[in-house]
Amino acid sequence: MVILGIHDGHGASAALLVDGRLVAAMSEDRPTRQSTRSGFPFQSVERVLRQGGITLREVDHIALATRRLPPKYFFVPRESFSIADFWREQTCYWQPRLNKTASPAYLEVFHDRIDPARRIYDESLIAHEDDAEGMLKARLKHLREYSGLPAERISVHDHHTCHAWFAYMSHPGRDRDLLVFTTDGGGDGSNGTVWEGRNRGPLRLLHRDGRCNIGRIYRYATLLLGMKQFEHAFKTMGLAPYANEKYGRLAHAVYASTLQNDGLGFTYAQEPADHFFWFKERLEGIRFDGIAWGVQKRTEELLSQWVKNGVTATGIPDVAISGGVAMNIKANKVIWELPEVNSLFVPPAAGDESISVGAACLAAAAQPGVAAERVENLQPFHTPYLGDDFSDREAEQAIAAGGLPPGSTVRRAGAGEVADLLAQGEVVARCAGRWEFGPRALGNRSILADPRDAGVVRQINEIIKQRDFWMPFASSVLAERAEDYFVNPKGLDAGYMTLAFDSTPLGRREMISGLHPYDFTSRPHVVRQEVNPEYHALIRAFEARTSVGALLNTSFNLHGEPMVAGPEDAVSTLVRSGLTHAWIGSWLVSKPCATP
Ligand SMILES: [Fe+2]
Repeated sequence: MVILGIHDGHGASAALLVDGRLVAAMSEDRPTRQSTRSGFPFQSVERVLRQGGITLREVDHIALATRRLPPKYFFVPRESFSIADFWREQTCYWQPRLNKTASPAYLEVFHDRIDPARRIYDESLIAHEDDAEGMLKARLKHLREYSGLPAERISVHDHHTCHAWFAYMSHPGRDRDLLVFTTDGGGDGSNGTVWEGRNRGPLRLLHRDGRCNIGRIYRYATLLLGMKQFEHAFKTMGLAPYANEKYGRLAHAVYASTLQNDGLGFTYAQEPADHFFWFKERLEGIRFDGIAWGVQKRTEELLSQWVKNGVTATGIPDVAISGGVAMNIKANKVIWELPEVNSLFVPPAAGDESISVGAACLAAAAQPGVAAERVENLQPFHTPYLGDDFSDREAEQAIAAGGLPPGSTVRRAGAGEVADLLAQGEVVARCAGRWEFGPRALGNRSILADPRDAGVVRQINEIIKQRDFWMPFASSVLAERAEDYFVNPKGLDAGYMTLAFDSTPLGRREMISGLHPYDFTSRPHVVRQEVNPEYHALIRAFEARTSVGALLNTSFNLHGEPMVAGPEDAVSTLVRSGLTHAWIGSWLVSKPCATP
């Protein structure tokens, strides 16, 4: 049984499931070179099928994630919005509606942002810009025409159910009962759900909520701070530890006066008229970093109390969280430290990119005429390396055609030679094997450096990343050395950079550039040999030269671009940046100097 999972909203993606096994999953941003790309994932579909050696005609079933996709957000791709556009959305679209002075149409306000390439659907089926039912008809018609499959072989799946199933099927502790939470900005009318999975059986919904507005409040705090509301929420999180608590408490009091936990759901002490202007008015006069501290603290309180309530209600202490809010690794730290929680798992792609996988899982587990899904139809998946790969020959061709500056050298190199460079203080970008599914570079599309050198952060920022000065880098750590560098008393799976930990004194000496510079927490990528043997061997080789069992690891991309996909992107990024070395497949490419 070949099932193609598709997500065509924000963070569009495709997934391929063959006989219950996840063969490939990719998001559309890599091949299109556009961050959090929305719209039909044509290129990802092509690539996941190629990975499986399958043609579109051989697909038995298509599983589409998300029922309700409002046309206005489909035709106006908000991933291309500037910060000013997001403010325009508030002041020109929402504010007049809130004040009841006018009811502007979204497509009129953003007439200059409509993407003509999105008009691939039969618009006669869509009555107005909020007609999600008409949009669904148009999406399904397009899918039938695109795939040649009849209507009965295409299914549509609830957004949060997809989030939950992705977390459930990627969980490493399949022998335990699991409690799964999902929370995000919103999808299919919900923004928070709670599920239990007992005896490895299908997930059972315990609660569905439309008031779990943690993500919505957080993203508008990010916008108030002058950053992009979707993409830059992690910057608000990175800023929070720097604040003076005195100012943070002022903002926290505002956030704590509204949304409250209520068992497995949420309620309001006082309900704001909206989640932007209401807070903006009350936060005026409070320092920017205090706002970050306040919203982060309140997020941690709400999420940890929610989880606590869930554990108490079910007696299940093993927890998984998925959905965009699960990318808040600082909150995840507060959750896993709760005495009530035995373990916490956050999958590698907790955001919307993974709901294509969840949809495919649901379609595979579904039984005609039977309410409960059969989990036996599925194999759990435990690798993030689900993207496209390339051959050595393709790498060679891309290098030859890449326009390298005169004096560049190209030679075959193994882990030892690259480890030599890293040990000498050089920065090396690595592009090898299949790319990672999700937003984190986990060694295969990574920029690497010696983590002992605090100055390397500045060096990487100058040559390629232009990262905001307060944002931390992360590190890849050999599984065998993990306890030397960070404190993980519950033995959590830290393979995806989705959890934060306190560092050890040795970690602060040997991994300083991979820690948060202010609170010295780490969000490590623990590298197990069986998951990525080549990358593990490189860190081992570095350890043999330096005694350090870790590397600084940041994503291989130019500032503002998605991570590199294949060797062409890798060469192009090398040429356009101040990087000196890129290890592409087995080829080590070195430019003559550190400036392009
Ligand atoms: Fe979502």
